[in-house]
Amino acid sequence: MCNCDAKAKDNRFELLEQTLEKYRGSRGKLIPALQETQAIFGYLPAEALGMVGKVLKLPASEVYGVATFYGQFHLQPRGKNIVKVCTGTACHVRGGGKVLDEVLACLGLENGELTTADLQFTLDPVACIGACGMAPVMMVNNDVYGRLEPQDVSAILARYKNSEQEEGDQGCVA
Ligand code: FES
Repeated sequence: MCNCDAKAKDNRFELLEQTLEKYRGSRGKLIPALQETQAIFGYLPAEALGMVGKVLKLPASEVYGVATFYGQFHLQPRGKNIVKVCTGTACHVRGGGKVLDEVLACLGLENGELTTADLQFTLDPVACIGACGMAPVMMVNNDVYGRLEPQDVSAILARYKNSEQEEGDQGCVA
């Protein structure tokens, strides 16, 4: 039986090892090392953080401290599509809360989950997208959708759904 997941994982750790070699002992290069690590995995797995600390000769507390301080770093897997829903004042007064509720329902996210189990979507509530005149607003990856009604949400999200995964999912697009 093919243990393809484990194999793919091994390949990524091998690639990380090669990538980090240029940072060996460079304690001041933690941020670029973390950025390259995240580019390989899509997030920062604990095992990878351990390798970064070892190669750069930094204590785990410092590696974790930086990884958790900056918003650009993620310690949990992220979805292929990032859905930013604005929760700022202009959007809130124009029904942004209902749009957010609809996104949560469509993606089948419950109990504070932000990423769908199939890793297709990550919800990222944000304070302001900078398009307040179009409130309520959401973004999917780099695409901006404004003057939203909750009933618009499922059709928008469906455009980003991986067509290979149409069966056995939950929520209105997931
Ligand atoms: S408050 Fe929503 S885009 Fe500015």
